[in-house]
Amino acid sequence: MRLRRMVIPAAIITAAGGAAAAAAGLYAVRRLARVLVRPRMDLHGKVVLITGGSRGLGLALAKEFARAGARIAICARDADELDEAERRLHGIAREVVPFVCDVTKRADVAELVRAVIDRFGQIDMLINNAGEISVAPLESLDRSDFERAMAIMFWGPVDLTLEVLPHLRHRHGGQIVNITSIGGRVSVPRLIPYCCAKFAFVAFSDGLAAELDREGIRVLTVAPGLMRTGSYLQAQFKGDAAHEFTWFGVAANLPGFTAPAAYAARLIRRAVEQGRMTLTITWPAKVLIRVQALFPEVTRHLMAGVNEYVLPNPQGNKTLVVGRALNEGFKGVFRLFTTLGRTAASELNQGPATGG
Ligand SMILES: NC(=O)c1ccc[n+]([C@@H]2O[C@H](COP(=O)([O-])OP(=O)(O)OC[C@H]3O[C@@H](n4cnc5c(N)ncnc54)[C@H](OP(=O)(O)O)[C@@H]3O)[C@@H](O)[C@H]2O)c1
Repeated sequence: MRLRRMVIPAAIITAAGGAAAAAAGLYAVRRLARVLVRPRMDLHGKVVLITGGSRGLGLALAKEFARAGARIAICARDADELDEAERRLHGIAREVVPFVCDVTKRADVAELVRAVIDRFGQIDMLINNAGEISVAPLESLDRSDFERAMAIMFWGPVDLTLEVLPHLRHRHGGQIVNITSIGGRVSVPRLIPYCCAKFAFVAFSDGLAAELDREGIRVLTVAPGLMRTGSYLQAQFKGDAAHEFTWFGVAANLPGFTAPAAYAARLIRRAVEQGRMTLTITWPAKVLIRVQALFPEVTRHLMAGVNEYVLPNPQGNKTLVVGRALNEGFKGVFRLFTTLGRTAASELNQGPATGG
């Protein structure tokens, strides 16, 4: 009797476990089959809207997708930089149209999506790329620094995505590409507001991918490590701004550790064509993400060590200085270490103060 009381529940649990394992196995096989037979996306004639397409990675992406036959809409705040980007894209893109838009303004975002659909008749792909790098120690930060980062790199992509989604749903498909960052996977010192915004953006992007998959809308979350886009000249610095600029300028352009923007754009285009959901760019970013996942305590110690022994002494100066202005005063070894950065800057429309 006692034996029967033990055997029956054990049999039920085993049967339920077996059924669950079989269902999970079947689901895994179906997903795998879906991935394997998924047709490659043909970019020819597709309308691609790229935020922050006037310079840096956005411009490299515009060139890459244009070469694959896509019709390109780029947006940014600076009209002159957009015009210059449009000029550089002529001859590569069969169609390129610039739109002035500040992604932190919801009215601008709604107007942008309306204007792109009016002009092209459709949107097939949204690339949420616009971003701003700000390097500053905690001592120099205010709440407004966090709000600004969230406005550009979290609320901007959220508003744009929500604005474009009804259109993609109406067309029963589409693609969203979210350019997040290694800073959205591992929080690093001197970039806390940036990392907060990128972590939130990763969460949004990963959740979107899960929820939109059944509707045929693909979402690719890209986590780049450092790329040579020339944007160290556009980044903003606080605290001991000159020294913060020095370490960041060197790190952002180190050969071997950083990826050329054109290479990153090529990887992103391929990942889109293959229908992938995640992409990490640069080997240091891949290593860091794995170490963080397996040994979170280790990355905390690593970051604390970098903050204490490698980075400049933290200072509370709240004046914001743009990299381009600081770059003017730098000579010698720094210019040697940033040679690749200056080349990238002139190729990717990072403004006049890049010579030398
Ligand atoms: N460079 C790296 O090493 C690296 C690494 C990881 C991730 N990322 C990410 O990659 C993306 C591109 O970076 P990047 O290096 O190419 O930067 P970038 O050269 O400074 O380009 C940023 C672009 O975003 C636009 N933008 C900034 N704020 C905007 C706003 N409020 N509304 C509309 N457009 C805005 C800029 O134009 P306007 O200023 O005229 O608006 C510009 O076109 C960013 O999201 C960045 O976080 C970069």
